[in-house]
Amino acid sequence: MGVPMPSEVKSSERQFEVQWDPHDPAEANTYPEVVAAIREQCPVTWSTGRWSVHDSGFWLMTRYKDVRAAGLDWKLYSSAGGAAPLQFDLEVFRNGFLETDPPLHTKMREAVTPFFLAPALEQHEDGIRKIIDELIDEAVAASPVDFVETYALSLPSRIFFELFLHEDPEEIRFTIDIVRGLLKDMASAAELAPKLQAWCAVAIQKRKDRGERDDMVGVIAHMGSDDFPVTDEMRIETLMLLIMAGMETTANGLGAVIHTFATNPDARREMANATPDQITKAVDEFLRFSSPVPAAGRTLTEDTVVHGCPMKKGERVTLNWLSANHDPEVFPNPDVLDLSRNASQHLAFGVGYHKCLGMHLAKREMRLTIEALSKLRVFELVPGAEINYRNGPARGLMSLPVICAR
Ligand code: HEM
Repeated sequence: MGVPMPSEVKSSERQFEVQWDPHDPAEANTYPEVVAAIREQCPVTWSTGRWSVHDSGFWLMTRYKDVRAAGLDWKLYSSAGGAAPLQFDLEVFRNGFLETDPPLHTKMREAVTPFFLAPALEQHEDGIRKIIDELIDEAVAASPVDFVETYALSLPSRIFFELFLHEDPEEIRFTIDIVRGLLKDMASAAELAPKLQAWCAVAIQKRKDRGERDDMVGVIAHMGSDDFPVTDEMRIETLMLLIMAGMETTANGLGAVIHTFATNPDARREMANATPDQITKAVDEFLRFSSPVPAAGRTLTEDTVVHGCPMKKGERVTLNWLSANHDPEVFPNPDVLDLSRNASQHLAFGVGYHKCLGMHLAKREMRLTIEALSKLRVFELVPGAEINYRNGPARGLMSLPVICAR
């Protein structure tokens, strides 16, 4: 659909109806405008678009207040039926604890949480800086270069595989291709999921055989107790979630930074002279503005009524983080990227029990990237380059041809 017209307002129970498909590639570039138009006309909308291969018809929430309230109410808005806006087959592939509810969710999450908190991340700071430097060296040597492919997509995967999983670099190439394919479309997901499952099973088994419990995979391999029984399938799903959740998501957050820097020299200069607090603030604004994970899916566990819309048990609801992050009631002039804005209440990482586990890692990667790129002598978009977006569970730049020099 394009921007919905007032004539699409219904007088029936479903007050406002649109045909909106969350992953429509044709709408990747205009996604923010389309959801803004829906938000302005009706806070809760019925979309006749698809939410899985077989199913269509779902509620779409777009205003900050409603999206936040629903995200916090996990009992009513359950993640156990899947948390993707366009849901893949949970029999083939379940996104670990992201697609479960408490208490099971929380026990599994707690087991791996320490690896994503400040003390653990502090130890990776030098390693992250080293990878950033290497990738910038590669980009400078290859300039003009696609900075999305060379940098934004490579950084999160190298950090995760090298620093968190301690895996052989040769293994990295093979698994990264799988992860990218999995995020591309549902057909790829069905085909590639077993390959990543098999890879995770071997990594877990290795830790079990050696009795290794110290690193993240070792903790996953040994998690569980009598009152918290864990199957091998749950272990594999947990590792798959951790591998996949931070790749394209972070790449798209980095994409917002590199796009701004390549097209707005003043913003890059401003960041070169910024204090650490100002950079932290800017990271939140980049996240709010770009909202790299635009939406999440939930399933209603009871009938409810929101803004007069009668929502039924079992129906699907999409919480649109991107739209909420552009709600003018909370963020004045929401479509302006203002690096001095206090945007810390954004919902780019979700809210409540499922709030992003990797948020501090992602923010660190963005902060260190801002620091490194603002020191470059040259960082400019190749003149005439076209900017296009990809849609999917994560939305971001397809490519960004850049001229760069140290
Ligand atoms: C800019 C980068 C990132 C963004 C925008 C992002 C966004 C999100 C969002 C919106 C959710 C909540 C989904 C829901 O409620 O259904 C989430 C959950 C999650 N994210 Fe991230 N994420 C990012 C990076 C990362 C990284 C680096 C990791 C590290 C592995 C990660 C791991 C996770 C995990 C494990 C969950 C599930 C949490 C739970 O269910 O308790 N994310 N993320």
